[in-house]
Amino acid sequence: MREPLLTERLLLRDCTEEDAPALLALDHDPEVIRAVGPPQATDVAAYAERIRTTYMPFQRHAWRGVLLVIDRATDRFLGWVFVRPAPASRDAGAFGWHDPRDEELGYRYHPEAWGRGIATEAARAILRVALADPATNMIVAAARIGNHRSQRVLAKLGFRPTGTVTLPGVDDPVVMLSLTRSGARLGPDGA
Ligand SMILES: CC(C)(COP(=O)(O)OP(=O)(O)OC[C@H]1O[C@@H](n2cnc3c(N)ncnc32)[C@H](O)[C@@H]1OP(=O)(O)O)[C@@H](O)C(=O)NCCC(=O)NCCS
Repeated sequence: MREPLLTERLLLRDCTEEDAPALLALDHDPEVIRAVGPPQATDVAAYAERIRTTYMPFQRHAWRGVLLVIDRATDRFLGWVFVRPAPASRDAGAFGWHDPRDEELGYRYHPEAWGRGIATEAARAILRVALADPATNMIVAAARIGNHRSQRVLAKLGFRPTGTVTLPGVDDPVVMLSLTRSGARLGPDGA
């Protein structure tokens, strides 16, 4: 396991198979489903397998992969954030994300954690590390056009919209965004 990342309120750590029930519960929250759609897996075993085969291999890298976000004051699991090579996205073809030097940012939190700046604080921590690596070209992200909360998080970080794509089977078009080193707003005061 890698060393956790610490922010003022949060601890960001690698996940293990024991985290499968928490990840399943998060994906099955009705408000989360409303924002991102229904989960593909429905049982703990499938989540444990995904952690073992998809998430844990990233832990060999210095900073890529899913990090669980824990409230330092209460030790509660709040959600997760990831940075991974953009071409690893399921929708990379549709988004035109082919450059392996580009990294994708993604995140998901329990509704009780929403609206406290948690997503922004955690993303800043991992983006600082990703953008400090000279191998990183830029950071990309995608959010459904109706997901205003997520677009607000991305705007606060300095992301700029680059276009929209309609994915097969999804009614809401998806806004694609990107963040360059010079545009990043990663200081504690948003500077
Ligand atoms: C999107 C999500 C990560 C945001 O997390 P969060 O911790 O609430 O984010 P923050 O508190 O850092 O920032 C949210 C911002 O959205 C704003 N916001 C809240 N509701 C909003 C709305 N309906 N429309 C526009 N902005 C809204 C907040 O005011 C805040 O901006 P501010 O700091 O300028 O006031 C969280 O809602 C979530 O996990 N949603 C479900 C999963 C998801 O959508 N993932 C992203 C897929 S692209």
